[in-house]
Amino acid sequence: MNTLAFLKGKRVALRPVLKADLPHFMRWLNDPAMTQYLAVYLPVMEGDEEEWLEGLRKKKQTDLVFAITLANGTLIGVMGLHRIDWKDRTALTGAFFGEARHWGKGYGTEAKMLLLDYAFNTLNLRKIYASYIAFNVRSGAYQKKCGYREEGRRKLQHFRNGRYWDEILTAVFKEDWLQLWGKYRRKYFRRGGR
Ligand SMILES: CC(C)(COP(=O)(O)OP(=O)(O)OC[C@H]1O[C@@H](n2cnc3c(N)ncnc32)[C@H](O)[C@@H]1OP(=O)(O)O)[C@@H](O)C(=O)NCCC(=O)NCCS
Repeated sequence: MNTLAFLKGKRVALRPVLKADLPHFMRWLNDPAMTQYLAVYLPVMEGDEEEWLEGLRKKKQTDLVFAITLANGTLIGVMGLHRIDWKDRTALTGAFFGEARHWGKGYGTEAKMLLLDYAFNTLNLRKIYASYIAFNVRSGAYQKKCGYREEGRRKLQHFRNGRYWDEILTAVFKEDWLQLWGKYRRKYFRRGGR
């Protein structure tokens, strides 16, 4: 168990991905119950994750991926800032928790608020965008809770479970998120904290 914490919340923390995490990722990314929500549809083979981790080190300027852990260090998921654009000051977010027992407990909202704090208040980004497949109502709900709003739809963009689905495009601007963050911080983090 590793208690390294780059971004620390009350119940979850975000830290760099470690080699020891990779067997968990391989198991999660070969589970169709999870991958139906993601862009992954081919089997993840031995060595794929090692190659991916090696690649991450070289593209820190545009892609930052964090492991999500519980306070005791248990690994539960992954969340990242991708396609960071330093001119437009934008980035794409994505996330997953590998096991269904960790869904719907508020971990996603907490982790995403920590990541948005880092994106807006440390990296000085101004707009963060994401998307989800129309049937993934849980993802839509947690994005909305973190301030993301629908910007548009790609009609019948993704083939999943035997049919085509819309992809819903979402985004949150720093100025809108700051209002949410003020309320969130008072509720979830220590008084007088950051
Ligand atoms: C999407 C994901 C990261 C969200 O994290 P999470 O911890 O489950 O989300 P939270 O618990 O913080 O928030 C979920 C919100 O959706 C609501 N929700 C939970 N289950 C739901 C369901 N089946 N239908 C509709 N809403 C649901 C919750 O009530 C909560 O809103 P509320 O607090 O206002 O009640 C996580 O569920 C996950 O990893 N899912 C599988 C992979 C995935 O979908 N990744 C995202 C691809 S875009």
